[in-house]
Formats: sequence, C-alpha cells, structure tokens
Amino acid sequence: MVSRCLQDVDDLEPEEIQALFAQAKAFKEILNRPIRKVPTLRGKGVLLFFAEPSTRTRASFETAAKILSADVTSITSSTSSLLKGESLADTFLTLSRLPFDLVVVRHPFEGMPGLVFKWFGKTVINGGDGCHAHPTQALLDAFTAQEKLGSLNGITVTYVGDLSHSRVFRSGTRLFQKLGARVAACAPPYFVPLGFQEAFPDVGLFRDVHEALRKSDTLIVLRVQKEREAPFYSEREYERLYGIDGEKLTRAKKGMVVMHPGPVVRGYELKREVLENEKTLILDQVENGVAVRMALLYMFLTGENRLEQ
Ligand code: CP
Repeated sequence: MVSRCLQDVDDLEPEEIQALFAQAKAFKEILNRPIRKVPTLRGKGVLLFFAEPSTRTRASFETAAKILSADVTSITSSTSSLLKGESLADTFLTLSRLPFDLVVVRHPFEGMPGLVFKWFGKTVINGGDGCHAHPTQALLDAFTAQEKLGSLNGITVTYVGDLSHSRVFRSGTRLFQKLGARVAACAPPYFVPLGFQEAFPDVGLFRDVHEALRKSDTLIVLRVQKEREAPFYSEREYERLYGIDGEKLTRAKKGMVVMHPGPVVRGYELKREVLENEKTLILDQVENGVAVRMALLYMFLTGENRLEQ
C-alpha cells in the first residue's frame, strides 16, 4: 500500500472526497450500535502525535481507530524524549521502526506534517499545523453542512472571527469551494490577514455580522486564538460586534445553520442561547468527526474507496 501525506484538502482528489463522505455516512451507523466495534483495521497500528493541546481531534481519531479495531498509541511532546533533547527527526526515525502504519500529527509549526512524512516514511495525516491547515476539520465541517442542507452546491458559507490565525478557515475555504459552495468571511480588520484579497480572491468580505447572517446558509464561527500572537483590540467591542447572540440570530437567513470547530469560548463568540439553538450543529460536528475520521483511516490504511458497511 502506498504511503500518503494529507497535509491539506488539496491532497485528496474530488472523487475521493465524495467516496469519503459516502463511507463516513455508512460508518456513522456503527456509532449507534450497542457494540461499537468492527474488525476492519485489525492488525493496523495508528500513532497519535500531538504537540499542541487537543480534545476533539485527538479523542476523535483515537475513537475512530479503536472502533475499527486498529491498535492505537498516543504520544504528546510534553511526555516524550523530546524533553531530553532528542530531535523531532530522530523521534520519528525511532518511531518508524515500531509497528505503526500511520501517524496523526498536530504541531504548532506550519508544514511539519510534510517533514514528518520524510522522517517517518509511512502515512501521515495532518491533525492541525499552526495557522496553516486542518484538513480533517474541514472534511467534517463540509460533511455536516451537506448532511443538514442536502447539497453544498451554490450555498454561501461564511467564516466569522479570527481569520488571521485560523487553519480551519484556510482548509475549509479550499474544501467548500471545491464542493461548489461560495465562501465569504466577516471579521474586524485586525483579524483579516495581510494580503487577504490576493490569497483568497474568491472570498468576499461582509461589512458586518448582520449582513453575513442575512446572506449565509452556513455560518462558521471561529474562536479568537489568544494563545497565538494577538493584535491589540477591545474584547468588549469584539464581543458586541461579532459575538453571536439570540438577537442577532433572529436576523439569519431562513434555514441557516451555525457551526464552530471548537473549542468554544462560551458567552464570548457564541452566547448560551445560540449554543442551545436548534440551528447550531456543534455537537453534530463532533459526532460526524468520528465517522469522517473512520472513513479516512479506512481509505488510507486499506487503499480502498469502495463502501465498507
Ligand atoms: N477543532 C479542534 O481541532 O479541536 P481540538 O483543538 O480540541 O482538537
């Protein structure tokens, strides 16, 4: 089987994305069985290497691999021999001689999954690299929007918030556009990256959140990433202008859905009444994330695109 590196959504062919979604839909049924276990990946070794905090991505990949009966090993940078001075290259050279077939890597440095692929020599999936890409988040977001809205063709997907630091926005934009959606954004100037128009010529900017709400079919709200280099701004003003509350939600286009990759800063970018609103799909995204990652592990570890029930 050929080793692959999923750095971003462009590493998947359009027909692979559709096959992946069909497979995820089939796998989703397994999550509702009394015994959530199938032997599909028995004997395969999956390594999770996380050098940044994560709840969803890590737990989701681990759960996905275990449901498919793969053997899972988890390493974090803070408990590895990196702390004793070993380089990341030597760490992955070492790990390459253990019986792993695939690694999921999260790292703060952009492009790190590509380097890991060289050192490790086996399949690599990017679980989020700095501000660059988060392909599996994009896949589960598109899968969830398609599941809810029926089709992505011609819909408007709008990202609201900290675009500068968002790997979710970068990967999601590429994927939603590939699947026929229009992508727009809405953010204060201090969260719009330099060279935005050149980098994203097909992404329109809404003047304000009210316009975004009126014209969008899917609103993807982004967390302000205070752990990364932050601009100087008024949090109170941001919350007033860009935080989504029940009053703003009343102006939304009919049928619009709200998503958020998580983690959510409750009460800041989304108010309680929005989190509890039926338009909000955040927990569906989490659930779908397991099915989408099961499908991706299946595709990458077996080389199969045909449906497995
Ligand atoms: N959406 C996402 O990547 O969440 P975690 O940081 O919890 O993995």
